[in-house]
Amino acid sequence: MKPLILTVDRWNPDPSAIKQAACVLADGGLVAFPTETVYGLGANALLGEAVAKIFAAKGRPADNPLIVHVASPEDVDKIAFVDERAARLMELFWPGPLTLVLVAKEDVPSITRAGLSTVAVRMPSHPVALALIEEARCPVAAPSANRSGRPSPTNAQAVVDDLNGAVDVVIDAGPTDVGVESTVVDATGPALVLLRPGGLPVEKLIVVEDVVLPQGEEIKRRSPGTRHRHYAPSVPLVLWEEDDRTWGKFLSRNVAVGYVGIRKPPVAVAAEVRFESVEGYARGLFSALRYLEKRHVDIIVADWPEEKGLGLALRDRLRRASAMEEGDLPLP
Ligand code: TXA
Ligand code: MG
Repeated sequence: MKPLILTVDRWNPDPSAIKQAACVLADGGLVAFPTETVYGLGANALLGEAVAKIFAAKGRPADNPLIVHVASPEDVDKIAFVDERAARLMELFWPGPLTLVLVAKEDVPSITRAGLSTVAVRMPSHPVALALIEEARCPVAAPSANRSGRPSPTNAQAVVDDLNGAVDVVIDAGPTDVGVESTVVDATGPALVLLRPGGLPVEKLIVVEDVVLPQGEEIKRRSPGTRHRHYAPSVPLVLWEEDDRTWGKFLSRNVAVGYVGIRKPPVAVAAEVRFESVEGYARGLFSALRYLEKRHVDIIVADWPEEKGLGLALRDRLRRASAMEEGDLPLP
């Protein structure tokens, strides 16, 4: 069955549309909705059966826990233990693209947190997301609304392309602002641990708290989402780092190259999406990947941004989108 698409005004969503979607959530259905980062696939976080539908719809591995979305910091008290530091972070950065991993309370079903004793929580700033969560009167578990492993959706069409039939309602409020997912920090230990760089630049967190950046195996152990391949378009993706050697490989061969990035590519390409800033690149990366794969290019070359501001999150997504696995197509 095709999902019901509800098109709403980003700043002033029609209350009857929000009510309709909220009822679906409250009844255990799935609603895709915009946040300021990416579109999320929402279910009532306290209903195990509803949350199970998210895992099925996405083809998501059961060991990857979900982020629970709330409409106010007070709502967190029902699902997690909030200490002084967590309360301060919420006051400084919420609503916004910061997810806090906290010690969970019993009411949160095990499936929502993939069996962990912790739960990830965030209060989005998007007016539609806030209106929906408030109206549903329950915390809303929502991963990005893509098939597991695919680039995250930054508009409603991308949700429909990936999840058509598996979602009851899609709320369409146009493209999202930030374009990369929230920054995830573990706030259960002595220092904050960065589990996923994202829409809140880590530089902003470092000014107020100590932040540890785990490496290699440590990050895989602490951050279940990083164990799996992610963000990958259906076409192989390679990174254009500082030197131009990446491009040499394509010059002599008959390869249709798609390009995404800020710098001007040194050779003619079959299709390209260019941005003027790192913020623009973050906002547009995922939809550019989806656009380029539809243009049937053989390979996508992606610009490698500087490691500051949103560049850190972009590097993380690009690195993972480019990771080749056994059985993947070899480079042409
Ligand atoms: O911006 C976002 O965060 C979007 C929008 C929809 O809010 N959501 C999102 O969810 O990106 P998802 O499921 O695609 O990514 C959630 C990340 C994963 O890397 C997951 O492993 C991590 O958060 N996570 C969730 N709960 C956790 C926990 N208890 N401990 C450690 N990591 C956790
Ligand atoms: Mg995701």
